[in-house]
Amino acid sequence: MIYRTQSVAYPYFVVALLLFVLQVLMGLWLGINYFATIPQEIVDAFPFSTARAMHTNLLVLWMLLGFMGATFYLVPEETGSELAWPKMAIAQLVILTVTGVVALVGFLFGWTQGRPLLEIPRPLDVVVVIGALMFLANVGVTIIRAKRWTATQGSLLAGLVFLAVMYLFGIPFYENISVDWYYWWWVIHLWVEGAWELIAAAITAFMLIKLTGVDRRVVEKWLYVELGLFLFTGIAGTGHHYYWLGTPRYWLWVGGIFSALEPLPILLMVVDTWRDVRDRTTRLEPRLTWVYMFGMVILHFVGAGLFGFAHTLPAINYYTHGSQVTVSHGHLAFYGAYALLNLTFFYFAIPRLKGMPDHAYDERTGHWGFWLMSLGVLGLSLAFAVAGVLQTYLERVQGQPYIVSQEPIRLWMLIAFLHGLVVLAGVVVTVRHLLTLKPAAAQHG
Ligand code: HEM
Ligand code: HEM
Ligand SMILES: [Fe+2]
Repeated sequence: MIYRTQSVAYPYFVVALLLFVLQVLMGLWLGINYFATIPQEIVDAFPFSTARAMHTNLLVLWMLLGFMGATFYLVPEETGSELAWPKMAIAQLVILTVTGVVALVGFLFGWTQGRPLLEIPRPLDVVVVIGALMFLANVGVTIIRAKRWTATQGSLLAGLVFLAVMYLFGIPFYENISVDWYYWWWVIHLWVEGAWELIAAAITAFMLIKLTGVDRRVVEKWLYVELGLFLFTGIAGTGHHYYWLGTPRYWLWVGGIFSALEPLPILLMVVDTWRDVRDRTTRLEPRLTWVYMFGMVILHFVGAGLFGFAHTLPAINYYTHGSQVTVSHGHLAFYGAYALLNLTFFYFAIPRLKGMPDHAYDERTGHWGFWLMSLGVLGLSLAFAVAGVLQTYLERVQGQPYIVSQEPIRLWMLIAFLHGLVVLAGVVVTVRHLLTLKPAAAQHG
């Protein structure tokens, strides 16, 4: 930590980590619903849809808080100045966290807008918008006052503004249900395959510059190429959600062609990160931070690129649409790209925020956390994938009724749940480790 105001990032990380634990607990409860028969009284009091809304909204909330914390850490160093309004940053955290808690409690009482991932009711949307404006104003004013632009903070800001603007399209309710879903995807798809990718690229570039000491032009030059590709394939790629919505036929072509290109920039990023690192550093320290960094680029590519591509062509999506195949991809992509991005940043920033010598920390239990969590999510996603292929075959090729075809799938959902227990163990170890990070033992002299 070089600037005093960077410290506002820490409480963001803490809240994000606690919400992450809660998200995974909800996931386990969802998993149980798929292989056990839940007593009706419990279903009436706490339906699957409520738990699902909690699981996914917690996901979005903790990741966004993580991005915001990372931004508050990054912007002072990039601009070479203190954050404009550190107290407002804390107020914003309180506002957004309280809104999140109110939303979660509201779901329990059926207070919801209904659309997946964007369930939070409209009055709370207004508060979220206020929180987002506070955030953008704080970051924007800091950058403008400092008058020092870098490609890294430029793409970060572009991603954040794009993210906020897209959220607005999810607020109104359009009476025509096709139109409603059309815009729903502007939020969901253009977030994870547009805005969030820009943010991820910027945050990764920042960490690479700081961790390797490499000339920033080398990393940032690639940032431009990648940003261009992300935007190009990401925006047209929205079409892979428009196949069966009642939108015009040309979307079959646009969605099929462009989204098939989407994995390319991710692959470039993987290869280039590796090349940068190999050429310019002699040792990769701290080890665990790099394990996270590589874990992120690999699982980002596999989860989003490979698992995404597997069902993006219309001829395949015709069968797999909305099945457990989708759920499989959703888990591996979100975990690989954005859970690991956040955790990598936490491991990068917390030793600096706590002023640990050489930014080195005691890594031991942290490795356990990483592997339990990552292998757990991989197993979970593969089990969902098997369940999804079975479901697709039984229900859509053979034409079995939905509920009949669910029966053989139970086993695979149980296997998914068992992997979920491993994920939970990994998450608990990781969160504990991060929240009690200690300086490295003196062996390095
Ligand atoms: C990090 C990036 C990504 C994340 C986090 C992500 C996440 C998700 C999630 C959560 C869904 C389910 C949405 C729902 O219906 O509720 C989804 C659907 C989908 N994703 Fe991704 N995705 C990513 C990148 C990609 C890429 C690069 C491709 C294509 C190559 C892709 C192809 C698809 C397709 C075709 C669907 C629709 C599946 C269906 O018809 O049911 N995704 N994605
Ligand atoms: C203990 C581990 C977990 C289990 C057992 C679990 C289970 C589930 C289940 C059963 C669903 C509902 C699927 C449906 O509607 O049919 C779901 C949805 C979802 N979960 Fe998890 N989850 C876990 C952890 C995670 C993690 C770590 C992430 C991301 C980092 C995540 C992201 C998601 C997403 C994005 C959806 C929506 C998927 C879609 O719409 O296709 N989950 N989860
Ligand atoms: Fe998409």
